Amino acid sequence: MHARYTTTAIALHWLIALLLLGQFAFGLLLEDIPRGTPARGMYVNLHKSSGILIGLLILVRIGWRLTHKPPPLPDTMPAWQRRAARFSHILLYLLMVTLPLSGYLASNFSRHGIKFFNLVHWQPWGPDDKAWYAFFNQAHHLSALLLAILVGLHLLAVAKHMLVDRDGLLLRMWPVRPVRTTPSRSDSPLETR
Ligand code: HEM
Ligand code: HEM
Repeated sequence: MHARYTTTAIALHWLIALLLLGQFAFGLLLEDIPRGTPARGMYVNLHKSSGILIGLLILVRIGWRLTHKPPPLPDTMPAWQRRAARFSHILLYLLMVTLPLSGYLASNFSRHGIKFFNLVHWQPWGPDDKAWYAFFNQAHHLSALLLAILVGLHLLAVAKHMLVDRDGLLLRMWPVRPVRTTPSRSDSPLETR
């Protein structure tokens, strides 16, 4: 039987993966809404609000990860692959933090601040500073791009484990425990009919 991540780690992994995918698409769609229109303000604030909630969920996930050891990697994995997996996971977590954080910081160096779900206006705590806004906005764009690339590599790595190594790595993170197939009595070669 494969060692598995805890149910909470698995739930957080898939929930955050789905939410990030949606939030990424939302961010790209924002670019199509003309600047200076009321619709843009409304959607940008929705993006900021959902982004903050996803950011908080990511912090919960990191907290869980730091207090719960992941299952050991398959023995068949060479040392360099273990190092690469560890490094890429750390990078994924880092980008999952810098992405919402840079968005949050950029919003506080602009006069708009954040209208949380267009209901509560959180005034910016920073000055309306174009240079700092541009810096954090660039960091937001770069984090989104790097995270998309790294998730692409992540998927390639999982595909290699499943198709080339065939070590069942995906099952460690799969929400459903695979059904155990034990040979039935009638499969026994000793049994004669
Ligand atoms: C949590 C995950 C988040 C993801 C995946 C995400 C993704 C994106 C993407 C893909 C874009 C388009 C960027 C581009 O054109 O290169 C974008 C734009 C933007 N994001 Fe986010 N974002 C997140 C969180 C946040 C948060 C928490 C805030 C602010 C509190 C925020 C504020 C913005 C703003 C203001 C823009 C528009 C920037 C512009 O048009 O100049 N984002 N986001
Ligand atoms: C936005 C998308 C995704 C992100 C940000 C992400 C992030 C991560 C991170 C950070 C880990 C490390 C877990 C840890 O040890 O703490 C991980 C593990 C894993 N992910 Fe993803 N993931 C994403 C999508 C996917 C998808 C679509 C698949 C399936 C094809 C997948 C399959 C896995 C598997 C199998 C593991 C366990 C690897 C191991 O056992 O070491 N992930 N993911």
